[in-house]
Amino acid sequence: MDQTAAGRPRKVRVHHLAQAKADGTKLTMLTAYDAVTARILDAAGTDMLLVGDSVGNTMHGRTTTLPVTLDEMVVAARAVVRGTQRALVVADLPFGTYEAGPTQALASAVRLMKEAQVEAVKLEGGQRVVPQVRALTDAGIPVVGHLGYTPQSEHLLGGPRVQGRGESSAERLLVDAQALADAGVVAIVLEMVPAPVAAMVTWRVNVPTIGIGAGPDCDGQVLVWVDMAGMTDWSPRFARRFGEVGQALGEAARAYVAEVRGGTFPDDAHSFAQ
Ligand code: KIV
Repeated sequence: MDQTAAGRPRKVRVHHLAQAKADGTKLTMLTAYDAVTARILDAAGTDMLLVGDSVGNTMHGRTTTLPVTLDEMVVAARAVVRGTQRALVVADLPFGTYEAGPTQALASAVRLMKEAQVEAVKLEGGQRVVPQVRALTDAGIPVVGHLGYTPQSEHLLGGPRVQGRGESSAERLLVDAQALADAGVVAIVLEMVPAPVAAMVTWRVNVPTIGIGAGPDCDGQVLVWVDMAGMTDWSPRFARRFGEVGQALGEAARAYVAEVRGGTFPDDAHSFAQ
């Protein structure tokens, strides 16, 4: 079932997302920004790899996602696609590449599909991006929505804050989710949403919800891989560290430095005699 006749892992496609929701099978998504990491996360069985515009914060040392360009996304996405066999690769449309309308969104998404060969794109927002979602879907491009805390609007939202608190805010979130579903999205990321609100959206909307800081009742979960792997000193409260890879990397680097300085690396086994 999970392998093709040729013994390769069976590719995750958009209909598998709908199937997972119907079956009650939890979906897994992690961010990835390069081929080497994508290969590891893909081989671990992650269903979807998200080339997030969080590449700006995590890999490029920026403090927000806002300066990330489409060119930067294409480079990262191309590498992730090359490192991936099984997972569905989704890439973010970065800030400023889709808000102007369907024509701009289509041009940006086509670049990611053609130049990086991703399999879906993600954009932030609810009812306001419905024309863009329809245009992309009509062009055959699967779209993932993103509601709740949307980092590209961080200045308007007053920073990373839980969204959907209170009856009217929760109702707005539900209306947005329904609008995205009606427009044809294949999944919706819910970020920093109270768990009961995320559960209600998940129950009411017929496309899979992928939560990040949105409680356990979403159809799937997504984490930024550096948070998940414990690469940084600080991670958001909702992001559990499933490993201490940063520490392991530091130890490896310290051992390398010590051996080079001590003259024990390279030894004969790692040198060419002639
Ligand atoms: O860019 C990103 O990493 C994201 C996730 C937080 C969902 O959008």
